[in-house]
Amino acid sequence: MKIIAINGSPRKDCNSAKMLQKWVEGFKYIFPEVEVKWVDLYSLTYTGCRSCFSCKRKNGKFYGQCPIKDDIHDLIPEVYDADAVAFACPIYFGELGAYTRCFLERALFCKTSYRLHHDSLAPKPVPVTMIYSMNCPKDMASELHYEQHWNDIEAYISNAFRYPSKRVCAYNTYQFRNYADYEMEMFNEEEKRHYRDEHFPIDEKTAYYAGMDTAENLPNT
Ligand SMILES: Cc1cc2nc3c(=O)[nH]c(=O)nc-3n(C[C@H](O)[C@H](O)[C@H](O)COP(=O)(O)O)c2cc1C
Repeated sequence: MKIIAINGSPRKDCNSAKMLQKWVEGFKYIFPEVEVKWVDLYSLTYTGCRSCFSCKRKNGKFYGQCPIKDDIHDLIPEVYDADAVAFACPIYFGELGAYTRCFLERALFCKTSYRLHHDSLAPKPVPVTMIYSMNCPKDMASELHYEQHWNDIEAYISNAFRYPSKRVCAYNTYQFRNYADYEMEMFNEEEKRHYRDEHFPIDEKTAYYAGMDTAENLPNT
């Protein structure tokens, strides 16, 4: 059994990575022996989809696969082979951070067929958890229609991975170790710190339970 935890933040030990670690721990609570592959996307060199359409070419060598030979070439089939996958992704300008976005463009497009209804070419169902972390509070995220973006990308994820995805969010994250060093008039450090102290442990727990729940409800394959 193998799970893949994919950190889409350039920071290897901040909000996204901490939430992701909790998801792994939750999964391991149910399956302590599971093999865990941890990937920091910002350590890899790759692009988004290059629109070569090799993955759609009838009887082509790469039908259903991404042919681009870069650092995620082997990781793409690996996520479809895993027992569960989680992506932890910071929100940048209201969207998924670019590295996660590029990875998903490649991974989703090659398995999303151009048959009627976009049937998936994935070999089996794989549960995916999307973990988002962002500076803005929950009500602002709603006003800015963040959920709509998440619903859209998660619909593609659920289709390609052939299993309904889960979502975990950490809102109003604490962004720096030392707010005094940064220009920060928009934010009140004390309020941010209080919010973090009260809420981030709850968000981590939610990620932990999402990992546990994923492990307890693996698809029958
Ligand atoms: C380039 C950039 C753009 C950002 N844009 C947004 C945004 O649109 N909305 C938001 O809520 N937070 C935004 N943030 C804040 C991050 O999403 C937030 O700090 C997140 O928790 C970072 O995750 P990390 O701690 O794992 O790196 C942005 C941060 C950066 C660096």
